[in-house]
Amino acid sequence: MELLSNQPMYQTVPEKYIFPPEKRVVKDIILHSVNLPVIDLRGGRVDAEGWDEIIGEIMKAGKEFGFFQVINHGIPEKTINDMLKVCDEFFKMPAEEKAQYYSDDLSKPFLLNSSTTYDKSETRYWRDYLRLVCYPIEEVIDAWPEKPENFRAVLSEYTLQVRELSSKLLKLIAEGLGLDKNYFGGDLSKGKTQMNINHYPPCPDPSLTMGLLPHCDRHLITLLAQGTVSGLQARYKEGWINVEPIPNAFVINFGHQLEIITNGMLKSVEHRAVTNSAVARTSIATLIMPKTDCLIAPAKELVNENNPPKYKEFTFSDFLKAYDAASASREDVLEFFKLN
Ligand code: OGA
Ligand code: NI
Repeated sequence: MELLSNQPMYQTVPEKYIFPPEKRVVKDIILHSVNLPVIDLRGGRVDAEGWDEIIGEIMKAGKEFGFFQVINHGIPEKTINDMLKVCDEFFKMPAEEKAQYYSDDLSKPFLLNSSTTYDKSETRYWRDYLRLVCYPIEEVIDAWPEKPENFRAVLSEYTLQVRELSSKLLKLIAEGLGLDKNYFGGDLSKGKTQMNINHYPPCPDPSLTMGLLPHCDRHLITLLAQGTVSGLQARYKEGWINVEPIPNAFVINFGHQLEIITNGMLKSVEHRAVTNSAVARTSIATLIMPKTDCLIAPAKELVNENNPPKYKEFTFSDFLKAYDAASASREDVLEFFKLN
């Protein structure tokens, strides 16, 4: 088991974590003057007054950035802080305690690993992570660790709250698209919910390493809690935007499925995680997924003669297979499903 979180603090970066110059961050433009929109959900009450304005903000942010942050979303501060804390505690546990969860078998409902797993020949990311299924809770809770002591209880509560927020957001997005507000409420969002709990220890030389290489998320929508340490960057025009941490906010971004369903109106945007030399960073990405046999295609309501469908129909499991087969060129995966 090779985990960064079990190493004594490195003084220099070991060879296997050093990316070739063309993949390093130092060559890139960081757009310091551009910030992601921050949308105030006013306590998260979807039935409240003034929602048209909020829907408008979401659509504007979605079309321009594919990313936005939400505050005042209705999830208690304590739920988020408890979750971040218990995840940190997990990574701080001794190696012997964590070893039982270490696995390369992606079909497991709870596993611990250190990137990259899909191609061992590549340079490794400066990241340890937990990859787990968090919903339906009763089907997976037995696979979750019993230590730290309150891990299961905290993760259950967090899961319920984040799923509820995801439903609210999907309703607002559906309305913004002019679809029935429950358009995403069925099989499109009722697959297993997955979580990536990412842990990026301090790195002696962030110019040589990457926490996560640029990628798009492949499912429907992602809700990310990133604590107080920055590291997430989203692609924007010719450069990258730093997604500045806002206490208790969630960073929301669209996955490939939402891009396809909206026939490209809402984009799944590339993002990555950079490392820093000062402090460990923990982020929790909750991934809302379609059921595996769910049919995905551009929504009929959103296509017409002037805007013909850009993608063919497929099942979500077909998509996942194509994604895995694409391996190193995963970001080209949308090409498989394009109609010409
Ligand atoms: C992810 C992801 C970003 C981060 O897990 O897919 O993009 O900030 N994480 O850790
Ligand atoms: Ni991602």
